[in-house]
Amino acid sequence: MAPSPNDTTGPRHVAIIMDGNGRWARQRRRPRLFGHQAGAKRVREIVEACPDLGVKYLTIFAFSTENWKRTQAEVAGLMTLFRRYITKEMQTFVTEGVRVRFIGDRRRLDPKLQELMDHCETITAVNTKVHLTIALNYGARDEVARAIKDLAREVKAGKLDPESVDETTLTRFLDTHVLPDPDLVIRTSGEARISNFLLWQSAYSEYEFIDTLWPDFTDEIFAEVIGRFGKRERRFGAVPA
Ligand code: IPE
Ligand code: IPE
Ligand code: MG
Repeated sequence: MAPSPNDTTGPRHVAIIMDGNGRWARQRRRPRLFGHQAGAKRVREIVEACPDLGVKYLTIFAFSTENWKRTQAEVAGLMTLFRRYITKEMQTFVTEGVRVRFIGDRRRLDPKLQELMDHCETITAVNTKVHLTIALNYGARDEVARAIKDLAREVKAGKLDPESVDETTLTRFLDTHVLPDPDLVIRTSGEARISNFLLWQSAYSEYEFIDTLWPDFTDEIFAEVIGRFGKRERRFGAVPA
């Protein structure tokens, strides 16, 4: 749907780069994984806050295609945490009306984790209250490359005319094809960069860089950030009337 320049309502789709778990743990002289555990616990409160704030879609960055560069111990710890997290929260998602989706390339993930992800998507598929999308082994450049590969296959099979390819065509092949573009992207921990998150989709998103480390990000801070969004003027290239 084409965004309109005078749309000043709250954000329908919020995407969050949940950063700062490691620094949060270091401040407490604890291992990085302790910070990741504290970070995972934060997610439920933020998801639960969404309906009252008018946020219909929440997309969270949990693990990037670049995060494999971390120590094997940290990566393994994170993978175990994802498995435990999904297992533990699945029933809550079902009862609270949360529809869960995963984006990213899941083929590189442990088959048991993939199975859990598939199951979680299936059992929450009828839910409509909040659409929670978890980016796991997600990288925007990787997503675009995979999309182009799929698109090229359709061209090769004679199902798609290259001359007809436009922005909408490419959007159809992205992991996020069923989601609206994010209105607001929040990054915690004070870093002001995108780190390969939703590059295509956030072309016209508003950005908020928050100093708070992710494990300290409360629903109150979330509500404050959402409140500020309403005061922004989104122009989408046009001159406001
Ligand atoms: C974000 O926290 C979580 C993941 C990237 C998995 P970090 O682990 O990046 O925390 P910092 O940036 O080192 O503080
Ligand atoms: C981005 O955070 C990825 C996630 C939050 C999952 P990073 O901590 O990995 O990003 P860089 O390395 O600081 O850019
Ligand atoms: Mg980080």
